[in-house]
Amino acid sequence: MATATEPAPKYDLQPYKSLENDELSRRIEAVRGELGDRLLILGHHYQQDEVIAHSDLRGDSYQLSQMAAQSSDCRQIVFCGVHFMAETADILANRPEKLTERDGRRVQVVLPDMAAGCSMADMAAIEQVEAAWEDMGEVIDTNDITPVTYINSAASLKAFCGKHGGIVCTSSNAAAVLEWAFQRTSRVLFFPDQHLGRNTALTMGITNDQMPVWNPFDNDLGGHDAETLLRSKVILWQGHCSVHQMFRAEHVHQFRERTPGIQILVHPECPQEVNDLADVSGSTGKIIQTVQAAEAGTKWAIGTELHLVNRLKAEHPEQEIHFLSPVICMCATMYRIDLAHLCWSLENLAAGTPVNIIEVDEETTEWSLVALERMLQVS
Ligand code: 13P
Ligand code: SF4
Repeated sequence: MATATEPAPKYDLQPYKSLENDELSRRIEAVRGELGDRLLILGHHYQQDEVIAHSDLRGDSYQLSQMAAQSSDCRQIVFCGVHFMAETADILANRPEKLTERDGRRVQVVLPDMAAGCSMADMAAIEQVEAAWEDMGEVIDTNDITPVTYINSAASLKAFCGKHGGIVCTSSNAAAVLEWAFQRTSRVLFFPDQHLGRNTALTMGITNDQMPVWNPFDNDLGGHDAETLLRSKVILWQGHCSVHQMFRAEHVHQFRERTPGIQILVHPECPQEVNDLADVSGSTGKIIQTVQAAEAGTKWAIGTELHLVNRLKAEHPEQEIHFLSPVICMCATMYRIDLAHLCWSLENLAAGTPVNIIEVDEETTEWSLVALERMLQVS
């Protein structure tokens, strides 16, 4: 990944940190007014309320990718989300046909805080995936494996999938993507989230003994014998989301005992023991739609990031909404995007000294796009 060369910023971040939210909001709106349609602020559902209030469009990972792919008038996207989302936006907003439409002008993608990463995405490094692929090749013909990367991954992994006949998925299209993969090969390597891979494959009749978990720190075939790998249908990467792994089966049992009629609604990044017990499992977009479509008086315990659950609670007082875990599960990296960083990045953008531009290098872009376009065609 390359970051574009940036001129020295006109404004330093530090003074913004001591400003009140009202002042920051007022200044953010002033820049939005000044830049008009040239600026598109995208916000993921896990963003804090103060930040999401300033987004032009909000969505789950799949919807946000579509929004970036379809953007036409804008020249700058400020992404209130995490690093892999901004990379994806850069790749999709600047694909060849879009550049031609705009006479070669790139859309600049800005991530207000470069520290807004994803701990799950960091659990699969390209060197580890390449080494695993080579090791697997000692036992299985890799031409018969489709690599599938969850969108929560670095662009280099998406490029790996593009190069090796593979594809990207999100939590809203993982089943369709796995079906696509099984039309091509008899096996899948799924990274970095073992839970999304497992929960999705289980709904397709694949069993746990056909899904070994590849440990990238075990140099001996990821911790498996050749027979296990030969029996496999889906090889899962040993990665997880630190937020969703906090939800437990006992939380579900406690709610069911305490609150008769409660329905359990979870994100498929939760472990299998939780996902299996849930009434509904789906992406952040599906979680929102499910609550929106429910009748007044419906009782929910929701297993996903805290900011989204709290927002649903506030927006749906006619329903009874609980957070599934007794402990706080919030995405610390999503939370890095605050009004101070948003205001600082916007004012620098308006001043012509953009900060934190995310620009994926050409070769990575080319191959990532292959895998992303396959995904956009599948679902
Ligand atoms: P969605 O694609 O469901 O929005 O999920 C993104 C994410 O990071 C969940 O942890
Ligand atoms: Fe990554 Fe989990 Fe945060 Fe989603 S909630 S961005 S998977 S750490």
